Amino acid sequence: MADNIHPIHDRLVRRAEREAANGHRAAVVWLTGLSGSGKSTIAAAVERQLFSEGKFVVLLDGDNVRTGLCGDLGFSLEDRRENIRRIAETAKLFVGAGALVLCSFVSPTRTIRSVARNIVGEPDFLEVFVNTPLQVCEARDVKGLYAKARAGEIKGFTGIDSPYEAPENPFLDLKTTELSVTEAAQQLIAALQPHLQPTKSPTN
Ligand code: ADX
Repeated sequence: MADNIHPIHDRLVRRAEREAANGHRAAVVWLTGLSGSGKSTIAAAVERQLFSEGKFVVLLDGDNVRTGLCGDLGFSLEDRRENIRRIAETAKLFVGAGALVLCSFVSPTRTIRSVARNIVGEPDFLEVFVNTPLQVCEARDVKGLYAKARAGEIKGFTGIDSPYEAPENPFLDLKTTELSVTEAAQQLIAALQPHLQPTKSPTN
C-alpha cells in the first residue's frame, strides 16, 4: 500500500452493525468448477431465492466481470490470477457492506483460489465445488467453447489444455450429475444456514 494512503475505518458504519440491520451475516460463497459445470445457473437460483427472503445478496459472475472490471484480462494463468485477485477484493468490499456475495468463477487452481481465500479471509470464505465431470461439461457445451478448444481455435481452455485442480476440502461438494439445479441450489442454501444466522449484537 502506498505510504500516503490512510484507509478510514472509525467513521464507517461497521460491518457488525450492517449485519445486525440485515438480519444475517456477511460471507463470500465461492463457486469453482469447469466452464459449463453449472456454477452460474446454481448461483443465480440461490441469489433469486435468498433475495426473495430479503437477504442482502450479490452475485459476481465470470462472464459479467470479464466485460467490465476485468475486461483487459485473458486466460493465461497469470491473467486468471489477476482476475481472481480483483474479484476477491471486490467481494471483500461487499462483505464489509454486510452482503452475502456469491462468486461464480472457474478459478482453476488451488493457488489461484488461495489468493481469493487470503484476500477475503478464511472464516468468511466458503468454497463450493460445482462438481461436474469434464465429459458432462463437454457433452453439454452450451457455449460451443469445448468444440472450439478441441479444434485448437481457443488455446489454454480449462480442462482441455489448461489445468483444473479440484478443491481438496471444500465447504460443500455439489455433485451436479446427481442433482437438478433446484436441488443443488437448495443444498447450498441449507448448508449456508448456520453461516447466515444473525449476529447477537453488533459488538464485533
Ligand atoms: S477464471 O479462470 O479466470 O476464473 P472466469 O470464470 O473468469 O475464468 O471465466 C470463465 C469463462 O470464460 C468460461 O465460462 C468461458 O465462458 C469463458 N472462457 C473463454 N476462454 C476460456 C478459457 N481459455 N478457459 C476457460 N474459460 C474460458
